Amino acid sequence: MNILFLGDIVGEPGRRCAQEILTQLLKDLRPDLVVANAENATRGKGLSRKSAEELYDAGIEIITMGNHTWDQRQIFEFIDDDRRIVRPLNYPEGTPGRGYTICRVNQVDVLIVNVMGRTFLSQLNCPFAALDEVLARHPQIRHVIVDVHAETTSEKLAIGWAFAGRVSAVIGTHTHVPTADARVLPGGTAYITDVGMVGPRDGILGMRREPVIERMRTHLPNRFEVADGPRQFCAVSIELDSNGRATSITPIYRELV
Ligand SMILES: [Fe+2]
Repeated sequence: MNILFLGDIVGEPGRRCAQEILTQLLKDLRPDLVVANAENATRGKGLSRKSAEELYDAGIEIITMGNHTWDQRQIFEFIDDDRRIVRPLNYPEGTPGRGYTICRVNQVDVLIVNVMGRTFLSQLNCPFAALDEVLARHPQIRHVIVDVHAETTSEKLAIGWAFAGRVSAVIGTHTHVPTADARVLPGGTAYITDVGMVGPRDGILGMRREPVIERMRTHLPNRFEVADGPRQFCAVSIELDSNGRATSITPIYRELV
């Protein structure tokens, strides 16, 4: 089974870029499942229904989220009903939406789960314990894809190693900067600390540079906007065997200039 996982899609330029590159990639790779982190897909913060529909039309089947899940308030109107959207699992009990979803791919159940790290982010429930619990609840599912949405490399590596041999893939998101450490961990777990971003290449994490620099210099509030110009497309292609073990993980990097 081939799974294509796209890094954080940022704003309208990111959505367009995902759409354009996927048109070709879907033909070339013929993935069985396409997953994307899209917590920044609407104006760089959150996800509107319209943006989600655009991404589904482009071929993305499952959307994972993160710390910006609630930034477009209309998400509360559709997150409970849309089983294709996965917000971090380790939010408190009673949080709208779902922390994991199960989809049927080629007669096989695939579980996609999203957890958020706690270093420099909200102090949610323990991501390790939350993952343990989900795996214990679904012992028969062997194809498990984990999106670790976290700031620090150490927290992502710790989750990768803690679940090596227990899940099919641990894919890091959130920093928007791809890391060069894609590998298959012992036991058949595809791992990358951060898959990177689908969005404006020359901004700062996809946002216009000047307001970001200005805020860092002055510590005064200002407005961040999605950058324009050349766009980058970061993804990983993961190959799983029939037991859900990863046999390869290949980073994909493209640019639209
Ligand atoms: Fe994030």
